[in-house]
Amino acid sequence: MEMGMQIGFCGAGPFGLALGERLARAGHDVVFGVRNPADREPPFGGAALTNLAGALKRPDAVFVALPGFVAPEVLAAAGGVTGGRVLVDCTNLLNSDWSPAGLPDGRSNAERLQSAFSGARVVKAFNTVFADMLAPEPDPSGALTPATFICGDDGSAVETVASLARDIGLNPIFAGDLAGARHLEAMAHLHIRIAMAGGLGTKGGFAYLQNLQPS
Ligand SMILES: NC(=O)c1ccc[n+]([C@@H]2O[C@H](COP(=O)([O-])OP(=O)(O)OC[C@H]3O[C@@H](n4cnc5c(N)ncnc54)[C@H](OP(=O)(O)O)[C@@H]3O)[C@@H](O)[C@H]2O)c1
Repeated sequence: MEMGMQIGFCGAGPFGLALGERLARAGHDVVFGVRNPADREPPFGGAALTNLAGALKRPDAVFVALPGFVAPEVLAAAGGVTGGRVLVDCTNLLNSDWSPAGLPDGRSNAERLQSAFSGARVVKAFNTVFADMLAPEPDPSGALTPATFICGDDGSAVETVASLARDIGLNPIFAGDLAGARHLEAMAHLHIRIAMAGGLGTKGGFAYLQNLQPS
């Protein structure tokens, strides 16, 4: 683990809080950026709140945990992303009833963020992990180890995010360059469909099985 990374979250909804708390418990220094920090109680023991611009200045990684459609304009209004920061895009594009939505040009939201912020190194990750699978501590038995699929164009940024995933008890699976975020966003749509139409709810997740038997 890269000890004590200084991480910002843009968004402190159910997902951002669950992921951020796991990272904090793993030893990282997590700050949440929200619209009105003065109006909110600290979300969990000692966690710091700031505005969105403050979260974007955190040096080691910035997580985007905002509704997918508004994320680019919210980040731009807060000052944008600079300095080659690792921008971890956790968003999904959904309609208000959680049904799948998309961009007119067929790109992923991660690619849209990378186009909007050339000063960022965007990595798509965690978008296929439900908040309900992120209890504050990982399952000690290891039986509940969700995979998180990771895409990005910058190898070092991808490795940083994979390391953070391992720190919090997830299994990072590399899925190539950032164009692969289209598939990760489609996986999240499938995941929500399974939760809702398949009746399994949000306490489930994807694992990745490997046959390690000699062939
Ligand atoms: N929930 C899950 O299990 C899950 C799993 C994987 C990925 N995701 C993705 O993660 C992202 C966050 O999801 P979520 O479940 O935490 O809830 P959400 O409702 O999508 O996001 C909540 C956060 O977004 C902020 N926000 C909303 N509109 C805003 C705006 N116009 N300007 C600034 N901030 C705004 C809220 O700010 P305030 O606090 O100020 O209201 C809150 O902090 C989404 O893209 C979602 O698809 C969610």
